[in-house]
Formats: sequence, structure tokens, C-alpha cells
Amino acid sequence: MKITIIGTGYVGLTTAVVLSYLNHDVAAVDKDSSKLNQLHDGKSPIHEPGIQTLLDEVHHTIRFTPNVAEVVPDAELIMIAVGTPPKKNGEADTRHVEQAAREVAEACMPNKHYTLVVKSTVPIGTNRRVAQVVENVFTERKIQGNVSIASNPEFLQEGLALQGAFYPDRIVVGANSDDAIDALRRLYKPILEQTFAPPSALPRPATYHLPPMMTTDPNSAEMIKYAANTFLALKISFINEIAGLCEEVGADVTEVARGIGLDARIGQRFLRAGLGWGGSCYPKDTAALLGVAAKTGYEMQITEAARTVNFQQRTRIVNKLQTILKTLKGKTIGIMGLAFKPNTDDIREAPSLDIIRQLVTEGANVRAHDPIAIPNAKQALKDISVTFIEDVYKLSYNADALILVTEWKQYHRLELRKLAKHMKTPILVDGRNLFTPREARTAGFHYIGIGR
Ligand code: UDX
Repeated sequence: MKITIIGTGYVGLTTAVVLSYLNHDVAAVDKDSSKLNQLHDGKSPIHEPGIQTLLDEVHHTIRFTPNVAEVVPDAELIMIAVGTPPKKNGEADTRHVEQAAREVAEACMPNKHYTLVVKSTVPIGTNRRVAQVVENVFTERKIQGNVSIASNPEFLQEGLALQGAFYPDRIVVGANSDDAIDALRRLYKPILEQTFAPPSALPRPATYHLPPMMTTDPNSAEMIKYAANTFLALKISFINEIAGLCEEVGADVTEVARGIGLDARIGQRFLRAGLGWGGSCYPKDTAALLGVAAKTGYEMQITEAARTVNFQQRTRIVNKLQTILKTLKGKTIGIMGLAFKPNTDDIREAPSLDIIRQLVTEGANVRAHDPIAIPNAKQALKDISVTFIEDVYKLSYNADALILVTEWKQYHRLELRKLAKHMKTPILVDGRNLFTPREARTAGFHYIGIGR
């Protein structure tokens, strides 16, 4: 199929690369000229495992352009995958989505059928709004357009984006017209039937089953995205709340998570206690859901509480350290990990940023390490004094404590003894329960985990 994707962020670029690999004819639009230059050179502007290898394979088949009008007329299906940043009141700002819809409608040929798919995470009701925008442009143009609109929320997990795109749990489509549903079914046919040869770095998981394509109405599809993210966010907040109580009563939250997760109704995943969630989705989407609810006068107490618990985790860890060190003033603290989770350079809403800011406010000297997120963190923290360190062992030199914020695999392979040896006081606050208390203590650390 001939497809145009608008937006080449995490969602847009991953989708473009995957659909191109599946032999669709893909054009990708982005207004950011530096991003486009990189893409023209075949370089991925995002850090995502496997994306560069796949881009090497398909980039010559994808047409990258800043111009919607250049590629929309010929397209059969157009996907909007632009950002929906939070507004001051938490609601998602759909300005870019509406602008993209307008440009699409301006470029559509009369008498040709198009399917316009909204992939961006948007407030419930945006589909209707997009249909309205398109209709208004057609009226201005005095043409009879023929566009079917669909909502196709994206469940991309950073660090596992390609895995999730080739082997999704489900595909959700919200549309009122059979044409749109049919177009999306044809688009995803190779995935729904798993007829493609897996890329060498991404073998099909042995236990993988064919994914269902669930079709529903547009409002429900938009709601599914918010409800899914909010549910996962509150699952994590729940285990973090239990972790707090585990500390009070002398239980180990990792054991508790294992024990409750063995109940198939609960499941093992997303029960890792730690510093809570960050990233571009949970903080933004839970706030947006509350924004949608507030507009209707509906109270969402569980979602509110999940957010409160989440952000408290960041303060709690600093308070814990303060209790142990008596004061943070003048103390040297090493931060292990800046990205909001491993395998990404994304630092949006990362716990590391809040923790570092609090430490600096309390008068601590902060050093920070991350395998790949230092450039982004430098930018985000440029207003405060933080020393960024390339060699993780140097974090420990004369330090008063280390806080592990992101559970990068390479941290687990570190020689803990070597880290502890160079410290003024060998305190390790393991914000992700990456190490066992025993291995850390054997290496000479005073170990503090979460909920254990
Ligand atoms: C999430 C959803 O998983 C994805 O489906 C949606 O499309 C976008 O939001 P992402 O933000 O990339 O994806 O990351 P995810 O792996 O879900 O982790 C989010 C945060 O939760 C991270 O900060 C992670 O460290 C934290 N987390 C995750 C925990 O603290 N404990 C867990 O058990 C799992």
C-alpha cells in the first residue's frame, strides 16, 4: 500500500521503518529539518535498539520530506503520528494533530478515497474533531472529499519498539466505516498473519500467537490507549506503595511481587518496585486522562493516587539518603543512570532529573553517569551544576553515596567491590532493586533498596 506517515518521532519512525520492511511504499513527513537531514543520510534521530540496522536496510525505499502536499495526493492511507505535548492543565495539546489533518485535507485529491489514521495519543473525541477539520477544509475548497477516519492507538514501549511493532499483543482500530477498517486490515495483514520473514535481529518469539485486530468505535479506541497506560502506571504505583509498607514491617517487596504475580489474574509483569515511572507516556497520559475527566466533572481518585505515589518515590529516596547521611550539604552523590529506563536516551520525566534537582537544592555535589543519555540530560539540567562522568567507576571516587536510578544491564555487570573501595562512605541506594542486598553487602556496601 502507498502510505504517508506524518511525524518521525519514536512512533512515526518506528512505524515507517516497520511498514517499509513489510513492503509497503512509505513516505515520511517531518518539519524538523535537522531530523530530516539525518534521515536522508540514513541515520536514526532516535536511539532505539535495532532501529539503525533496520533503517540501513529500508531507508532508500522510504521517501523523507518536509512537505505533506508532496506525498499525500498519491497515498492510500495517511497516518498522523505527531506529538501531543501536555498543556499547562495537563490536557494533551492536539494542535499538531489538527494542523496535520488540515494539511492532509488541503492536499487530498477530489474523488479519490483516503484513509486518515490518527496514531498519536489524543484525548477522547479527537477523531470527531479531526473529521470536522477535514470537512471544513473540503468546504473551503468547495470539493467533495472522500476520507475515512480511524483511530489506531500505538502501544510502543521504548527500548522494545520494534519488538512491539512486529509482534504486538493486539492491534486496536476505532472507526465508523468499513472502508477504514478494511484499509487497516490490509495494512497490517503481514503482522496479523505473521507472513513476513523476521529481521535477523528480531526473531519471532517461540511462544508468540497471532495478534487479534480489535475493531471498535473511535472514542473507545482512544480511551483504550489512556486506560491501558493508566492501568500499567497504577500497577507500578501499587507495588511501590506495597514496597513502602514492606519497609515498615520487614517484608521484601521482590518476594511479595513474585508471590502475587504467580496468580495468573495479577501476572508478573509491571510489578517491579523502584523509583516509579517516567517517560513520555505515563506522566502525560495519566494527567491527560484526569484533564478529560475534570472537564466532565468526574473524579478519578485511583489515577490521582497513582500519580501521587509515583512522584513521592523520588522525594522518599532523597529523604532516605538524608536520614543516613544526616545532611546532604557538601556531600558528593553519584547518580547511576539518567534515562527514564534502560535502552533509551530518553530523559523525559525521568526520575533522575527530579532526584538530581532535589539533591542540588539540598546542597549536594552531584555527579552523574549514563551509557547514552548524558547529552540529553546535560541539556535538561543546564541551569544547575552537575558533573557528568563517562567512566562509571569514577562516580565513586571519594563519593558519600551512590544512587542507582536506571537499571542499565551494564551496571549489573560492574565490579561492586571496585566501586565501594573508592568511596568515602560506601552507601548504595539501589532505586531499582537491581542488586541483591547480599551481593552489595558482600562487596562492602551499606545497601538500601526499595521495599526490602
Ligand atoms: C509505556 C507503555 O508500556 C506503552 O505501551 C505505551 O505506548 C507508552 O508508555 P514506555 O513509556 O516506553 O511505554 O515505558 P515502560 O516500559 O512501560 O516503562 C515506563 C516506566 O515505568 C519506566 O520509567 C520504568 O522504569 C517504569 N517501570 C516499569 C517500573 O518502575 N516498574 C515496572 O515494573 C515497569
